[in-house]
Amino acid sequence: EPLVITDKDQMRNWSRAMRSQGKAIGFVPTMGYLHQGHLSLIREAHEHADLIVVSIYINPGQFSPTEDLSTYPSDFDGDIQKLMAFPGGVDVVFHPHNLYDYGINSVMNNYQKLQLGNQRSQSQVLNPGLPHKTNSKNCNVKEEENGAVSCEEEKGIGHETWVRVEKLEKGLCGKSRPIFFRGVATIVTKLFNIVEPDIAMFGKKDYQQWRIIQRMYNRLQEESKKHAWEGPRSRFIYKVIGSEVVRDDDGLAMSSRNVHLSREERKKALSINRSLLRAKSAAEKGEIDCGKLRDLVIQAVNEAGGRIDYAEQIVDQESLEAVEQINAPVVFCLAAWFGKVRLIDNMEIDG
Ligand code: PAJ
Repeated sequence: EPLVITDKDQMRNWSRAMRSQGKAIGFVPTMGYLHQGHLSLIREAHEHADLIVVSIYINPGQFSPTEDLSTYPSDFDGDIQKLMAFPGGVDVVFHPHNLYDYGINSVMNNYQKLQLGNQRSQSQVLNPGLPHKTNSKNCNVKEEENGAVSCEEEKGIGHETWVRVEKLEKGLCGKSRPIFFRGVATIVTKLFNIVEPDIAMFGKKDYQQWRIIQRMYNRLQEESKKHAWEGPRSRFIYKVIGSEVVRDDDGLAMSSRNVHLSREERKKALSINRSLLRAKSAAEKGEIDCGKLRDLVIQAVNEAGGRIDYAEQIVDQESLEAVEQINAPVVFCLAAWFGKVRLIDNMEIDG
């Protein structure tokens, strides 16, 4: 059974104690509601590390007030069961309550007002990992009539310092989710600093996220190497590893959000992977014109009833800049809405 740690200092102390015994620590950050995609990251982490830490934390800082924070699925007990049944297991589940810089944060306040109305504490039931008022240390919490909580001292979003990877966060998902990647980069930096892992695993399912974390790691790692600071750690983290997309048998990329798809929507969503595969095979047969490949995919997804979210989808694998012709390794990234669910997927095409 994994040890469940909710306290930051306890987490850090555990990692330092293990490292002093010569153990390498592998880290898999997640937002929970675990599926085979997450488990494959854990499986791969075992190949690189002696001990595995999985974090489960639904990070409010990466959701804008109009997004699906309040309905993001969660099942902590179910997650623990899955981890217990998993071959090789997991040593620690890090389940922090709140990784904000201050208080219960007004994100909670904002989105409850916007989305929940009278449905008091729904988010606490759905998302036990979310900060809630009992955890508030430094603000006076008032509960309002509509069930929203408000915090007098605090306005703003809960972090006062953000980590941004500016070039890579602009395109693709960053266009329709402008605060998403700073939320991710910030929370991952915090998690790295608490867990102090030797390696960390990310899925290529979230391709842009993986590249952003990798770039962030490269830059911060370079700096810490350069200065070789004294202290318990001489490096930020040893390695960030990307893991292949895990799909259901029908080809749909696994995602915690798939649970919100109706059966009909799910069927329609298969158009994503099918058309990406068709584009890949056309590219392998010599089609280098990205416009044509793009049209093929857009048309297939539209015909299936999906609503495309972004369109400059074929990008360089490293720089994530849009290309018009394939003559280097590219990745075809796609986001589309099916009903109320926004799905992303991608396909690497080696030029
Ligand atoms: P979450 O969506 O829970 O995903 C956690 C990790 O699992 C990410 O690295 C993601 O890329 C990977 N993953 C999800 N579905 C996958 C699939 N079908 N195949 C392979 N890998 C998959 O991504 C996040 O959480 C958050 O943004 C986080 C990094 C934890 C920061 O809050």
